[in-house]
Amino acid sequence: MWGRIFVLCMSAALVAAAAGSSPHAEELELLLKSGQVNARISDNILEDASLDVPELVRKYNYPLEVHTLTTTDGYILGFHRIPHGRDQNNDPNVKRPIVFLMHGLLSSSADWVLMGPGCAFGYILAEAGYDVWMGNARGNYYSRTHVRLRPDAIFNTDYWDFSWDEIGNIDVPAMIDYALQLTGNDRLHYIGHSQGTTTFFVMNSLRPEYNQKIISMHALAPSAYFANSQNLLLKAIAQFTNPLDSMARLIGLGEFMPNSQIMSWAGQSLCMDEVVFQPICSNILFLIGGWHEDQHNATMIPVKLGHTPAGAAVRQLVHYGQSVKDKEFSRFDHGTLKNRRVYGSYRAPRYNLGAITTPVFLHYSPQDPLANVNDVDRLFRELGRPVGKFRIPHDSFGHLDFIWGVDAKVLVYDRVINLLKSMDVHSIDEEA
Ligand SMILES: *[C@@H]1O[C@H](CO)[C@@H](O)[C@H](O)[C@H]1NC(C)=O
Repeated sequence: MWGRIFVLCMSAALVAAAAGSSPHAEELELLLKSGQVNARISDNILEDASLDVPELVRKYNYPLEVHTLTTTDGYILGFHRIPHGRDQNNDPNVKRPIVFLMHGLLSSSADWVLMGPGCAFGYILAEAGYDVWMGNARGNYYSRTHVRLRPDAIFNTDYWDFSWDEIGNIDVPAMIDYALQLTGNDRLHYIGHSQGTTTFFVMNSLRPEYNQKIISMHALAPSAYFANSQNLLLKAIAQFTNPLDSMARLIGLGEFMPNSQIMSWAGQSLCMDEVVFQPICSNILFLIGGWHEDQHNATMIPVKLGHTPAGAAVRQLVHYGQSVKDKEFSRFDHGTLKNRRVYGSYRAPRYNLGAITTPVFLHYSPQDPLANVNDVDRLFRELGRPVGKFRIPHDSFGHLDFIWGVDAKVLVYDRVINLLKSMDVHSIDEEA
C-alpha cells in the first residue's frame, strides 16, 4: 500500500516503476535516498533488488518463461519456468524431469532465485538437469489479477476471500496440470517451503488423484501442525481468530497489510535489543519466519526487502492462527453456520493426511520456531507414505534459512537433489 502512495511522490526512479520491477523497488529506493540506511549498497545489489523475477533471471543469462492461467474461480496466476541450465544441462531440446517449486507465505517465485546463481535453489536445480517450474499463489505480486474481482477495490474485499486451502485445492493443481500438459510429462517432483508444503498437503488430501502425478515431495520446513509453534506473531494472531472479523478489523482489509498495529508491536518486541538493519524489524516475513545471524548474508538484505513481502490474504494468516489454536490441520473455519453450508458440518473438517500416498521427505531444523520438531514428528507419523525425515545438520538453522541461508546448498539442497535423482532412477525401474 505504501508503495502505491510513494510512487506518486517519486520523481526520478533509477529503475522504471512499471513492468519489470520487483514488488518493493520504489520503497527501497526511497529508503536509500532518505539516508536512514548507512550501508553502502552496490549497484548490482540494488539492481537485483529492483528487478522482477523474469528480468532478474534473464540478467544472469538463464532462460525464463512466464506462463499464465486462469483458475476455475477466476484468479489469473502468473508463474515462472527455468526450462534448463546455463552452464550445464543447457540443451533446450532435451526433455527433462520437472521440479515444481512452491513458495511460502507472503513470498513468491523470487524465493528460488534471489540469492543468485550458485546459491538459489532454482538455478541449482536447472544446472542439475531439471526443468524448473516456480508457482505463484493467488494474491501475490505475480498473481494479483482476477477476471472480475479487484484486489484493490475499496468497498469490497471479495478478491481476498481465500486462505491456503484455496491455494492448495485450486491454484497448485492448476499450475501442475499446466506444466504437465505443456511438457508432455506424466509426473513431476514437488518441492515446497513452509506454506508451499502446506499447500501440497492440502492438495493431495483433498484431491488424492494428484498422488499419481507427483513422483516425490520434499518439504522444507514442513508446515501442517502448529501445536508447538513458538512464533510470536502466529501466537498473537491465534488470540484473534474468532470471530474472524475482529481479526480482519485488527489487521486491515482483505489483504494482509504489513504496516499494521500488530506488525509494529511484533517488530518492536523482536528488534528491541537486536543490532540489525532496522527495516527488517518491520518486515513481516522476517517476523514470521525468523532467521539466524550466521546464515544471514547482510549484503543481500536489500534484495530480500525488494522482493518480499509479495502479498497475501489476511485469511492465510488467520488460517494459520486457527491451526495454532486448534492444534489440528483442518480446513478454514468459517464459523458454524457457514461451515455447515460449505463443508456440510458445523466443524471445519480435518485434512486427511493418510490419503497422501506420494513419497514424502521432510527436511526440518530443530531451531525452526515455526515448524517445531514435535509437530514435524506428528506429521511424519500421519502421512500415508512418509519416506524420510532429515534434520538439518546445523545448530541454528532458521525457517527462512531454507531459502536464504548462506549454507542452504550444502545443508539442504545437495541432499534434496540426491533424493530427486534416486527417485528418478527408482521411477524408471518401476515403469520398466
Ligand atoms: C553474500 O552476498 C554477496 C553478494 O551477492 C556475495 O558476493 C557473497 O559471496 C555472499 N556471502 C556469502 C557468505 O555467501
